[in-house]
Amino acid sequence: MIDSSNSIYKDHHYKAVFFETFGCQMNKLDAELSLGLLQEEGYRIVDKVDEADVILFNTCSVRQHAEDKVYSHLGALKTLKKRHPEVIVGVLGCMAQKDGESIFKRMPHVDLVCGTRMFSRLPELILNIRNYGLHVLAIDEDQVVHVKRAVTHRPNFYQAFVTIIRGCDNFCSYCIVPYVRGREISRTIPDIKEEVQALVSSGCKEITLLGQNINTYGKGLSENVTLGDLLSELNDLDGLERIRFVTSHPADMSRDLIRTMSRLGKVCEHLHMPAQSGSDQILKRMRRGYTAGYYRNLISYARELIPHIAVASDFIVGFPGETDEDFQETIRLMEDIRFHNCFIFKYSPRTGTKAADLEDDVADEIKRARNMRLLELQKGISLEENKKLIGREVQVLVEGASKADSNKLSGRTRQNHIVVFHGSREFVGKLVDVLIHDVTDLTLYGTLT
Ligand code: SAH
Ligand code: SF4
Ligand code: F3S
Repeated sequence: MIDSSNSIYKDHHYKAVFFETFGCQMNKLDAELSLGLLQEEGYRIVDKVDEADVILFNTCSVRQHAEDKVYSHLGALKTLKKRHPEVIVGVLGCMAQKDGESIFKRMPHVDLVCGTRMFSRLPELILNIRNYGLHVLAIDEDQVVHVKRAVTHRPNFYQAFVTIIRGCDNFCSYCIVPYVRGREISRTIPDIKEEVQALVSSGCKEITLLGQNINTYGKGLSENVTLGDLLSELNDLDGLERIRFVTSHPADMSRDLIRTMSRLGKVCEHLHMPAQSGSDQILKRMRRGYTAGYYRNLISYARELIPHIAVASDFIVGFPGETDEDFQETIRLMEDIRFHNCFIFKYSPRTGTKAADLEDDVADEIKRARNMRLLELQKGISLEENKKLIGREVQVLVEGASKADSNKLSGRTRQNHIVVFHGSREFVGKLVDVLIHDVTDLTLYGTLT
């Protein structure tokens, strides 16, 4: 426990923290929760490493590139640490969980390695380093994360993320996430409702429920509950306007859940459900548990019940053995489904996963060319789809000033399009109707009606 009588700990001089986070939304939320804890302990956040007493990186291991970035950031801190040995450098999150002790060997100036389920103990771990000058390794595997959220710390006042299930049991053959995030553990409905209620009471209008594999929400809880049950309960909360959830897995996405989505007014017409590939033999080797045909049928069903639903996907190009014909099938799937947007990744072998035993036999320039091809294709589709919205009115939750032009406002539609328009600050946090008159592949432009 934290010894509050400790004089160093009380000294505000030691409480400036620099925090950088990599990886997925769940990692970003963990970073927000960690910072919330530190702020409650009196830390202030600084945006330059040389103003910090504590430098923390919340890391990602999903692709080699993500890890290389962190190691290069850490390497760059060597001279700072030589000049100021009292500064604490910490590695948190997925790469900490995966590489553990070996991070100290590779980067001896790192003081703290803290895994994916230990961040709730950050203040105490930092204090131990401060007091005893030791390296601290904290990667306990089976601890359930319980963080009392300080709702005031979120970056966007009107929109918040809420984790409802941690970990993943799917073991897709290419993916490191189940190894670094551990087994699936769901939070109870009352626990989630309490957090959402507190967020809503403090002004939040839209929540996005998070899980690596969100459709299996409820598995392992003593009460028999599903994601649909949770959505129904949250839909009844006064003051909450919109609910989203990510990420859906096609094999675990039930038709029942689609029906529930269609009847709950606050659940947005938005589904992030990665297809990963359009080729059945690649999907099989990825151990995804569905075929492209199954995926197509699921989307048809969703569109039948929720006509304007926007579907987003992830794709991996250059998975071991991916032929031109396999890749053509991915192109066909993309052309036929016409996704709202897609994230496209070049396959990156991850040690310890099943796919790492297969030869990484697609040359990097082919991976790059396939990546570009899919990006271009999706860009064209997004532009064409967005053009269909010209002359139409869309409902926008206004998030704040536009990043590109601070004289304008920016917000999102229920389908998750970004909309930029003129309007006074009094609209921030409100739902407004905007008439669209111009679009790009990424943004809609309009005027308030
Ligand atoms: N739980 C989510 C996200 C997992 S990671 C899901 O299942 O969709 C986000 C994306 O990274 C994945 O959807 C996948 O497209 C990509 N990804 C995962 N492992 C990868 C690897 N080894 N190489 C390249 N991309 C990968
Ligand atoms: Fe990784 Fe598959 Fe789990 Fe997603 S569902 S986190 S891709 S193992
Ligand atoms: Fe990366 Fe960990 Fe998320 S590996 S994608 S930060 S769960």
